[in-house]
Amino acid sequence: MADALRDAASRLATSSETPRLDAELLLAETLGVGRERLVLDAHSELGPDALRTFAGLVARREACEPVAYILGRKEFRRITLSVDPRVLIPRPETELLVEVGLTLPSGASVVDVGTGSGSVALALKDERPDLDVWATEVDPGALAVARANGDRLGIEVEFVQADLLSGVSQSFDAVLANLPYVAEQSQLPPDIDYEPDVALFGGPDGLDPIRRLLPMVTEVPLIALEVGLAEAAESLLREAGFRSVERLRDLAGLERTVVGRR
Ligand SMILES: C[S@@+](CC[C@H](N)C(=O)[O-])C[C@H]1O[C@@H](n2cnc3c(N)ncnc32)[C@H](O)[C@@H]1O
Repeated sequence: MADALRDAASRLATSSETPRLDAELLLAETLGVGRERLVLDAHSELGPDALRTFAGLVARREACEPVAYILGRKEFRRITLSVDPRVLIPRPETELLVEVGLTLPSGASVVDVGTGSGSVALALKDERPDLDVWATEVDPGALAVARANGDRLGIEVEFVQADLLSGVSQSFDAVLANLPYVAEQSQLPPDIDYEPDVALFGGPDGLDPIRRLLPMVTEVPLIALEVGLAEAAESLLREAGFRSVERLRDLAGLERTVVGRR
C-alpha cells in the first residue's frame, strides 16, 4: 500500500497541488475505508482489483478532474454534500456567507440565490433551524442536486427554480449569494474547466449577475455577496442604497465577500 501511494503521489505531482493528500483520498475511496486506516495498514498488500480501481481514479485526477467530482461529495461546514459536474464544488471561502446568515435574528427569512449544490442554504438551515431558508437556482440540473442533498440530509429548505429572484414573491430579511463572478475570457486552471460555465462566468467584468440582482432586492435590509471584485461590488451596493458596506477577507486574505446593510 505504501508503494502504491508513493507512486500515485508522484504521478499526480504535476496535475495537483496536493498530490499526497489526493492519492490518500482516492486510495481510501478505493478500499472503502477512512484515511487513518491507510496509516495503520501501510504495510499490507493491495489486491489486483483494488490496484486496478485505484489506478483508474488516479488517472482521472491526473487528467485534472477535481477530487470532489471523483468522490462525488464535498464537506461544507457540518454537512457533506453530493456533488457532480452539474454543480460548482463548494469552496471554504463561501462559508463566510453562512457566517453572515448566522447573525440573523431568530425566525428571520433568508434566501440563497444561485444555490448550486444547496451548500449555503443547507449549511445555514442545519446550524440555524429557526430560520426560514429559501434557495433559488436557474439551472434545472443544479436544482435537482440541491433538492436531493436537502432530502438526503433531512434539512428543510424551500428550493425554487428562478432566474435570480424573478417571480419569487416572498419577502426576505436577508439575501446571500455566491453567483458567477469570473470575468468572461478569463483563463482558468484545468480542474476548474470541469465545473459548469453557468456557475462560473458573470459577464465581461464578472459583475453582471450582481447588477441584475440589486434592483430585485430594494426592500431587503441585508445582503451578502461573494465577489471577484470587492471594491467594484461595494460601489454597486452603495449606489443601490446600502448605507453600510463591509468587505470581509477569506482565509487567503482576499476580500471575497461584501456585506451591505440599509
Ligand atoms: C458560483 S456557483 C455557486 C453555487 C453555490 N452557491 C456555492 O457557493 O457552492 C453559482 C450558481 O448560481 C447559479 N446561477 C447562475 N446564474 C443564475 C441566475 N441568473 N439565477 C439563479 N441562479 C443562477 C449557477 O447555476 C450556479 O449554481
